[in-house]
Amino acid sequence: MCGIIGRVGRDNAVPYILKGLECLEYRGYDSAGVAVFDEKGIIASSKTVGRLAGLREAAEKDKLNGFVGIGHTRWATHGGPSEDNAHPHFSHDRKFAIVHNGIIENSNELADTELEGVGYNSETDTEKVVHLLSKYYNGNVVETISKVISLLKGSYALGILCTDYPDTIFSTAMSSPMVAAKTADCGFICSDAGAISAYASEYYPVKNGEICVLNDKKIEFYGNDGQPIEKAAVKIEVGELTADKQGYEHYMMLEMLQQPNAVRDTILPLIKDNAICLGGVDITDDYIKNELREVVIVACGSAYHAGVVGKSLIESMGSIRASAEIASEFRYVDPLIDEHTLAVFISQSGETADTLAALRLAKQKGAKVLSIVNVSGSAIANESDNVIYTKAGREVAVATTKAYSAQLVALYALAIRLAKGNGKISSEEEKRMTHELAALPHKIQMTLDRNIEKAEIYAEQFANATDIYFIGRRLDYATALEASLKMKEISYIHSESYAAGELKHGTLSLIDPGVPVVALAADGEIFGKTYSNICEVMARGAEMLVVTTDKNKELIAEFENTFIVPDTLPQFTVSLQIVPLQLLSYYTAKKKGCDIDKPKNLAKSVTVE
Ligand code: G6P
Repeated sequence: MCGIIGRVGRDNAVPYILKGLECLEYRGYDSAGVAVFDEKGIIASSKTVGRLAGLREAAEKDKLNGFVGIGHTRWATHGGPSEDNAHPHFSHDRKFAIVHNGIIENSNELADTELEGVGYNSETDTEKVVHLLSKYYNGNVVETISKVISLLKGSYALGILCTDYPDTIFSTAMSSPMVAAKTADCGFICSDAGAISAYASEYYPVKNGEICVLNDKKIEFYGNDGQPIEKAAVKIEVGELTADKQGYEHYMMLEMLQQPNAVRDTILPLIKDNAICLGGVDITDDYIKNELREVVIVACGSAYHAGVVGKSLIESMGSIRASAEIASEFRYVDPLIDEHTLAVFISQSGETADTLAALRLAKQKGAKVLSIVNVSGSAIANESDNVIYTKAGREVAVATTKAYSAQLVALYALAIRLAKGNGKISSEEEKRMTHELAALPHKIQMTLDRNIEKAEIYAEQFANATDIYFIGRRLDYATALEASLKMKEISYIHSESYAAGELKHGTLSLIDPGVPVVALAADGEIFGKTYSNICEVMARGAEMLVVTTDKNKELIAEFENTFIVPDTLPQFTVSLQIVPLQLLSYYTAKKKGCDIDKPKNLAKSVTVE
């Protein structure tokens, strides 16, 4: 979380930094700040609580101007969102200013030992680092950084200014993303290469423990022993980061409407001659039959919900034992995995800290690692033996929609591949499934077209609710998990998802007259069971909204409020059912006047544990 950008050049760095921070706001938006060397070589700064518009005004008012500077957009960890806690932070003599992304886990310990007697201007862990720089400064910033990072535990990416070097930005990183780039007459450091793609065509990743020294003439790298190192540049993929909302009020709406393309671009490269072909992924029939004993899918948030679908399909189609695990739990339970485990990590950003740590653990335990990632060159992609890329394009809204949909189809492809390799489906069945997969983008489009107006109408009623329940069985329950998360994260209405059969074991006591309950009822095989649960909540006065497929629509003819999605194979219904519920969450949040793309307290990229 938190975004960093720094720029050195021969013109005012402030507009570039502000523009870059705009692109990085997805990483956090509790506060923002910028610091530059003024014409006297003093470090001047502006800060604001909240969004960047405030920082823009503050920087203008402060007449901030300088050729070299660093900026930060914050997701609060240590200390609330206040101006004091906003970065950059300064040493008491103002010789050093720093911006930080990550968490210094031993900051309290450092305060008691290394920094005894030092006063603080903020509650942040970051401020301890800047005082350590000041304490150990010996005239050589690289040596000083090297010493200071040897004392730090945790994750960090740092941008550092020192008044003895007013033409230079220093940076270093540990388990947090940081890149540096140099063009003919300027240079950048940044948390995300996409945010500087308008200015640079290639970048250097600043890897764990490395130190980067950047001015407008050169870029240098040092290892954590202070010795110079050579690095290879990486090409920046065409940046979509600055793409606008294309006329829509919110990125979330644009991204929901982009789902047919996201799904098409993800699935088509995985289908060849009516069969699934996972490209360079090293999963052979021999491995599936003779070595693979179980699949463990690990992820966070919506990616975990996609994993729940994957687990179900791998088991039901391939007869291979599978589980879906929340990354932040998986990594601390000493999971029983070994070289016979296929560990699948799902992540839009490719940098979620818990997912990355879980991946490292799986590797340590000898599992084969496969990641499903949207951002190429991300840490999770880089550290995985095998990668399936989702092709959702840049997703800006914090609440994922198109990336989740792309993850689902990548998992369908994996499940088919494993089932085929395990001899559980024939080539004919595979052909039927790949045809249906290829048809999904069109069916998602139909689902959007059919339900968008209805979603806006139903949202009137949902916006007044204080609690909403989503129920379903089997894959319908997996859809309920994601639908409920979408609703609560952007509308701030309390919502829960329940396996429909579990209601009677406690949750029914929460159902009062008028409480909205959304029933996911696409699963034709056990429709009768779900229908019984619908009757149970209706008997208690719930307001029902039922989601099902064309084939089953007669079965729910008695309900006034419905979302009907096109028919597809039962394995793929989540891809269609989730769409109207994303729309419903969107319109509910809109009616409530919520900040849809940037819900309170959240960030898109979660790089803290
Ligand atoms: C955040 C996002 C979610 C996402 C989760 C995991 O909470 O808001 O939309 O599902 O992180 O992120 P990842 O990038 O690993 O998919």
